[in-house]
Amino acid sequence: MDTLKIFSHLLFFIFFFFCSYLHTTTSTDTCIRAACRSTKPEIRFPFRIEGRQSKSCGYPGFHLSCDSSNQTILELPYSGKFSVQGIDYAAQEIWINDPNNCLPQRILWLNLSGSPFNGVNYQKFTFFNCSLDYLKYGFNPIACLSGGNYTVFATSSTKVVSSLSSSCQRVTTVAVPVEWASHDQILKSDLSNNLRLTWDKPKCRKCESRGGECRLKANSTRQTICSNAPGRGITRSVRYAITVGAGVPTLLCILGLLCFVCGKVQSCTVRRNSIPELNATVAPQPTIEDGLDGPTIESYPKIVIGESRRLPKPDDNTCPICLCEYWPKETLRSIPQCQHCFHADCIDEWLRLNATCPICRNSPERPSSPVQDS
Ligand SMILES: *[C@@H]1O[C@H](CO)[C@@H](O)[C@H](O)[C@H]1NC(C)=O
Ligand SMILES: *[C@@H]1O[C@H](CO)[C@@H](O)[C@H](O)[C@H]1NC(C)=O
Ligand SMILES: *[C@@H]1O[C@H](CO)[C@@H](O)[C@H](O)[C@H]1NC(C)=O
Ligand SMILES: *[C@@H]1O[C@H](CO)[C@@H](O)[C@H](O)[C@H]1NC(C)=O
Ligand SMILES: *[C@@H]1O[C@H](CO)[C@@H](O)[C@H](O)[C@H]1NC(C)=O
Repeated sequence: MDTLKIFSHLLFFIFFFFCSYLHTTTSTDTCIRAACRSTKPEIRFPFRIEGRQSKSCGYPGFHLSCDSSNQTILELPYSGKFSVQGIDYAAQEIWINDPNNCLPQRILWLNLSGSPFNGVNYQKFTFFNCSLDYLKYGFNPIACLSGGNYTVFATSSTKVVSSLSSSCQRVTTVAVPVEWASHDQILKSDLSNNLRLTWDKPKCRKCESRGGECRLKANSTRQTICSNAPGRGITRSVRYAITVGAGVPTLLCILGLLCFVCGKVQSCTVRRNSIPELNATVAPQPTIEDGLDGPTIESYPKIVIGESRRLPKPDDNTCPICLCEYWPKETLRSIPQCQHCFHADCIDEWLRLNATCPICRNSPERPSSPVQDS
């Protein structure tokens, strides 16, 4: 008897969903994505390439340019030009380096004020200017800052600082927005890794992680909106459906719940699928191979989650890499040294690039490659 009523509401629901979808798609897409060199890094909101993407496609302070060798260039108001190595839009992070390959020199004069950017991890480095004799101590001199009669070192270790202070000229101490705060950098003067910066505004993390498209509101220079987000479109429709469908609340609630669950699962799939690509933009330089090889990764224990979703250890029930909950029948992998668990495909991707546990930074053994000595 109520079939017709239910059917008409269902039609209305579908119609509304379709309209809200149309509305969000038609109002965008005047901003095309761009890149200086073939495809990487992809430049889109909040960044834009000056001259190629219009002002309304970027946020103030986020304009980039391409140099003559097709490097993506970010110019900081007080520190000059840096090359952009990668951008993680969902994490709101950008990796920069010196286009002329002497990052330590740029670090000496780094001043982020006046730019929208800030460091993620800061580590203090003290620079020393020593006579050549100090080469024998085994520190890594900064070649591009050293001369015929002197060598320049940088160190984070207070021990090294106090031992060098008496015999070398102390140049300065700076807080460096390092890529990762690590023990390697404390002992060596390895400041050639990228600098890792983040920005606070515009806030597009949620939108990006839902697969949406963050952009400026029409005729606004600072306000942003999120469009085309699958999760958001559905929840908005659900909200509407619940208001409209007071006549058949049960049906619509069930529908809404279903969609909500679908939306959650979908945003998690989107996020997890994007991880390999994300890492590719994060570590674009082919110079160092810090990861583990396939057979080593495969040798780590795998666990398939049961219906109870109980983990072997009182671990969180979300994967620390993709931040998605574990679901029954998903495969996890744990790192034997510290027992931390992750989705197998998340941690495999990670370990191929980094030989450390993303949580505790313990290094799983590497059977074949010897430990580097300095
Ligand atoms: C830069 O890109 C342009 C067009 O994509 C290409 O013609 C040119 O050869 C590139 N230059 C270098 C130095 O890679
Ligand atoms: C950065 O440069 C600005 C302008 O010259 C100056 O006011 C500010 O003190 C500098 N900041 C640092 C940390 O040197
Ligand atoms: C180190 O000292 C030499 C002279 O001993 C000087 O020419 C050079 O500029 C100094 N370098 C730095 C980075 O202070
Ligand atoms: C190195 O030091 C010697 C003597 O102290 C000096 O004669 C020479 O010019 C210096 N060389 C450079 C490149 O500064
Ligand atoms: C935006 O600005 C343009 C002209 O600059 C105007 O024609 C248009 O109506 C404005 N749109 C809104 C939504 O204010």
